[in-house]
Amino acid sequence: MKPTSSRSPVQHDAVDALIAYHDRTKHHLERYARGPGGLDWATQPDPFRRFTGSPVSRLPLAGRDDTPTSGVLFGTEVSSPRPFTLGALGLFFELSLGLSARKEVAGSGWYLRMNPSSGNLHPTEAYAVLSALAGLPGGPGVYHYAPLHHALEQRARWATPTEPDESGFWVGLTSIPWREAWKYGERAFRYCQRDVGHALAALRFAAAVLGWRVRLLFQCGDAELARLLGLDRTEDFGDTEREIAGLLARVIVKEIPGQGPAFPATAPLEWFGRANSLSPSRVQWSAIDEAIARSQRIAVSVEPTEPANPTAWSPPAPPHCDRSSGQLIRQRRSAVDFDGITSVSRDTFLAVLDTTLPRPSAPPFDAWPFPPRLNLVLFAHRVTGLEPGLYLWLRAPGDLETLRGAFRAGFEWESDPSRDVPLVRLGRGDVRDFARTLSCHQDIAADGAFSLGMLGRFETVLRERGAAAYRELFWEAGMIGQTLYLAADAAGVRGTGIGCYFDDVLHRALGLAGHEWQSLYHFTVGGPVEDPRLRTSPPYAQLDHDTR
Ligand SMILES: Cc1cc2nc3c(=O)[nH]c(=O)nc-3n(C[C@H](O)[C@H](O)[C@H](O)COP(=O)(O)O)c2cc1C
Repeated sequence: MKPTSSRSPVQHDAVDALIAYHDRTKHHLERYARGPGGLDWATQPDPFRRFTGSPVSRLPLAGRDDTPTSGVLFGTEVSSPRPFTLGALGLFFELSLGLSARKEVAGSGWYLRMNPSSGNLHPTEAYAVLSALAGLPGGPGVYHYAPLHHALEQRARWATPTEPDESGFWVGLTSIPWREAWKYGERAFRYCQRDVGHALAALRFAAAVLGWRVRLLFQCGDAELARLLGLDRTEDFGDTEREIAGLLARVIVKEIPGQGPAFPATAPLEWFGRANSLSPSRVQWSAIDEAIARSQRIAVSVEPTEPANPTAWSPPAPPHCDRSSGQLIRQRRSAVDFDGITSVSRDTFLAVLDTTLPRPSAPPFDAWPFPPRLNLVLFAHRVTGLEPGLYLWLRAPGDLETLRGAFRAGFEWESDPSRDVPLVRLGRGDVRDFARTLSCHQDIAADGAFSLGMLGRFETVLRERGAAAYRELFWEAGMIGQTLYLAADAAGVRGTGIGCYFDDVLHRALGLAGHEWQSLYHFTVGGPVEDPRLRTSPPYAQLDHDTR
């Protein structure tokens, strides 16, 4: 792979094009971003891709919960690595991307998964690139993970019948943009990228349960990933929905000193399977095609120049939780409503936020090779011991002075000298109505204990790192979202990602102009109200019990 320069004129065009995409896909108070204007149920995409004709290997489902305490998820404990077996691989996929429940109401049913997804549409697909593994008859090759059946579908068989590689394997993530565009229209590309970030963090959390680690391969380009995973095989995809490259991550089972994660050497002998069609027809959103093309990741061989962990944070201090790591992952759900009553203590609030700080040996940000670009703008509604109001949580404390210069005058900029936490008070007052309006008038942003927007350094990052950084910013946002989901559950409350918000309403309130800072994802945390009409049943009841 050849190193590339991020400063070519082509790249600047691409960055301009992505900024234009970002602007045109903003929701405004008086007008939402271009969408389908209603849901066409006849073309609702199938959330489960299958490869017809591929050899299928069922993965074992976990039986009794023998996972370590939830401290392993937040870096307060480390569990000793489990050997790389089919059973361990099954648990890894079950806890990261597997089904978590089946929901039913009034005769219709749907599945939830360990990883959340905007609209439960699940654009993300996953592939494992494996060496020989006992119990996997297909041998070394590329496998698609099929969550509905908790199975691996073999896409490619490799020439080299290598010895088992006990040091680990690779996972590739891809997106099928049509699944999101069906509901969200032009804004869907943003959603796909956030969901990739959620999935990456979900992989990292599942790895932590097994005592394994995950590392994003920043070097990997779209073309190389498409070739590795067979996404470029038109003979297998025909005119089915487009599936685009996301990212490649190395799952490290056993650390080998001096050996960093490298791109897999491939020699496919044979390909199997044809992708199923997900909808009878689809709408082409050219703005999305343009965003995909312009944000294409080009293979690089130069390490990121900035340190991934510029701040030496004190050891992790997550919410206290007695549940096992497996239980916590399995119970994650989005709240559809909050009670408007439940509060969290100031300590709990800080403990939840603490999990979002990037530390070199705490999941999930130890998988992330780039410095933190996103800070949190907090709307504190019901935090005992903290005045309601507007706050900043500085994941990148070095941004403080730049933000102070960029925000309008009149904010307090008050930090708490008694505590070593990156919390800054901007203003006191009831911000519930503002938070609700900002989040497309959704009550969940006001009825919880607190909600937040993830404010990312935007234009400079794109100009310096290149247009592909547009995707990376949303991946980072998704990782923060996944972390907040688990941290909220650990604290005995619940979270919900918010992709529907009026971008510039927040920017204007803060006094931000231009594109240097953009809010890339919102989130809310509080006491959930369950919908009593919904029936919940276990996820894999449809599978034979003998596979459990
Ligand atoms: C990127 C993203 C954006 C989301 N945006 C919203 C939102 O604006 N409003 C909302 O009520 N839920 C939102 N959700 C929650 C999803 O609807 C939820 O994840 C999905 O229905 C699956 O349910 P689960 O999270 O309980 O598995 C969002 C989730 C994600 C990951």
